[in-house]
Amino acid sequence: MTIHTGRHFLQIPGPTNVPDRVLRAMDRPVIDHRGPEFAVLGCEVLDALRPVFGTKGPVVVYPASGSGAWEAAIVNTLSPGDRVLMFETGQFSNLWRDVAQRHGIQVDYVPGNWRRGAQPADAEQRLSEDQGHAIKAVMVVHNETSTGAVSRIAEIRRAMDKAKHPALLMVDTISSLASMDYQHDGWGVDVTVAGSQKGLMLPPGLSFNAISEKALAASKTAKLTRYYWDWQEMLKPNRTGFFPYTPATNLLWGLREALLMLHEEGLQNVFQRHDRHAEATRAAVRAWGLEVLCEEPKEYSSSLTAVMMPQGHSADHLREVILENFDMSLGTGLAKLADKVFRIGHLGHFNDLMLAGTLSGVEMGLTLAGVPHKTGGAAAALESLVKAHHGPAAPVSAKPGTAKKAVAEGVLS
Ligand SMILES: Cc1ncc(COP(=O)(O)O)c(C=O)c1O
Repeated sequence: MTIHTGRHFLQIPGPTNVPDRVLRAMDRPVIDHRGPEFAVLGCEVLDALRPVFGTKGPVVVYPASGSGAWEAAIVNTLSPGDRVLMFETGQFSNLWRDVAQRHGIQVDYVPGNWRRGAQPADAEQRLSEDQGHAIKAVMVVHNETSTGAVSRIAEIRRAMDKAKHPALLMVDTISSLASMDYQHDGWGVDVTVAGSQKGLMLPPGLSFNAISEKALAASKTAKLTRYYWDWQEMLKPNRTGFFPYTPATNLLWGLREALLMLHEEGLQNVFQRHDRHAEATRAAVRAWGLEVLCEEPKEYSSSLTAVMMPQGHSADHLREVILENFDMSLGTGLAKLADKVFRIGHLGHFNDLMLAGTLSGVEMGLTLAGVPHKTGGAAAALESLVKAHHGPAAPVSAKPGTAKKAVAEGVLS
């Protein structure tokens, strides 16, 4: 095995690079999760999470991967035999559909080509046809991590309102939260599903549900069996910072630090940084003469870019060459995209030079793997980054005192 020096480049679309600050914050003795120190930690993180989801309502935290939070959204709001509307955006919508079906939910699944997000017009049509309001929830993956295509949630909400349909809106933001603009309250979302290992810059192991009042009301009559995921059981002890069972204590210390970092940078700046890196990545892909999988510019993801391989060339071979030679991990193609695409993650704890290194690694890998392409992709990305710094889209500087404000408001100290 090749000995590598320097840092590994973890450029899969999650889990993402964990900042040293977060690692250090977790590197401490485990505390009593029923003691006073934990109560302070619990209250701090539960409060500081809300602005990241764009909500003033409750956010619950599970010691689980994102799939757990998918299941929680379903079992808290639905009853066996309920109908829901979902959209085939890629592998993750397929998996969420499977979770629903395993719970006896009937899924109306709108087919898709894995190159677009969910279409608001489809939502409006399906819901308008459902005069009897049999559909209890609309479930959408905001950022489809298998394809790099975004579903426009605000427009889906408008479509639901136009159809005057009372279904709940449930959104998977596992690869978009804290990377791309998202507003749980502002967009009228009822349940937001998220995970720790992507934009939140933590290791895997925590997942989240942000819950609207309407979803909370639905949970009072929903009949699916639940114990571990039960919001009501979670929310009671959460009021004083505690959990109904053993929480992932040290991940919560890490979460506290990650939230502090996000508040210090300012969420709008975090989103602009991701937009800038995504734009530069697409500039590289175009310069290489390769194709971005997402076929609609207004649905481009800012957290990852899936790149299509030229016919007859293996994406997994390219990934192997890059891992072996440059110690960089890129995302594999999932399910029907296996070996056909590779995915560049540019989310989380990331900066311009890390992106420059990432794209240089891809470009050198394309050459070593014998993949036909034009050179100059990395250079095109640099040009795009420089333009972003000096052009009209220059990022605004972090609002002074954002972190101080969080401290003053007692959210974080
Ligand atoms: C959009 C999306 N949904 C759900 C999941 C599943 O989350 P987990 O693997 O943490 O269970 C992932 C994982 O990458 C994802 O990207």
